[in-house]
Amino acid sequence: MSTAATKIRPTTEDDITAEVLRRFDATEDARLKQIMQSLVKHVHAFLKDVQLTEAEWWKGIDFLTKTGQMCSDTRQEFILLSDTLGVSMVTDLISNRKPSGATESTVFGPFHREGAPEKEYGADIAAVDRHGVTTYISGRVLDLQGNPIAGAELDVWQAAADGLYDVQDTSLGSMNMRGKFHTGADGRYLVKTTRPVAYQIPSDGPVGKMLAATNRHPWRPAHVHFVVAAPGYAPVTTHIFDSIDPYLDGDAVFGVKNSLIAEFTEHKSKDEAAARYKAEPPFCTCEFDFVLAPVKS
Ligand code: BEZ
Ligand code: FE
Repeated sequence: MSTAATKIRPTTEDDITAEVLRRFDATEDARLKQIMQSLVKHVHAFLKDVQLTEAEWWKGIDFLTKTGQMCSDTRQEFILLSDTLGVSMVTDLISNRKPSGATESTVFGPFHREGAPEKEYGADIAAVDRHGVTTYISGRVLDLQGNPIAGAELDVWQAAADGLYDVQDTSLGSMNMRGKFHTGADGRYLVKTTRPVAYQIPSDGPVGKMLAATNRHPWRPAHVHFVVAAPGYAPVTTHIFDSIDPYLDGDAVFGVKNSLIAEFTEHKSKDEAAARYKAEPPFCTCEFDFVLAPVKS
């Protein structure tokens, strides 16, 4: 007769994996069950693949603990971890399959803020910090057939000319380099800003240590963030990247897509654009159209 001491129990590594998977069998939510069982399968396979030692496991626990402790209202270390491991971009590619012609999405990043101020057509989001090169970003928001979308909202945010977001450098006040713009009947928008600069993602926490320990750099190529939304259309979270940036091929968070690279044209004399924008040279202009796909029915 089998007793508690003689009963057959999971003993090998594979027995434990099978037993953990079995414990999730009764999960009522089918999607949750699929995710948990797949997660267990892959994590266990990883442990067996690298033959993780207990000392390494403790280091991992310490790393994740410190990552959590680093998080605050203005610092999201877990998003940084997800971004630097390419998890954000793989999820983006899976979740945002767009019809051909629609503007592609890219990482959201940790620096978006709710409640950016409403801005008029052509308003300056860099009014507080005039160190950078004045830049006019303009274009249209269109549907897949090329028709203008009126009343589309463009939520814009960008690092200042020193490479820091307002949440990192509070000396310029909150909501610097942020604004919500709306297209007119012709679908056009115009944002006055400064030319974006390449910057380093925050490296003073566990993610920065991980990058340093693995000989990876923390640079992102110069970009401006947009969330473009309009009723009846799928919103797109995206960037415009500066085509001459040296980090386009090595973005620390893997966010670059060719269709999001745009030219920032330098204007050094009082040309037609200078007259149109009443701008003092030198300044830059960048044209970029956003194309939204209809909401899937
Ligand atoms: C950003 O572009 O704001 C960003 C994205 C991912 C990680 C850090 C920053
Ligand atoms: Fe950014």
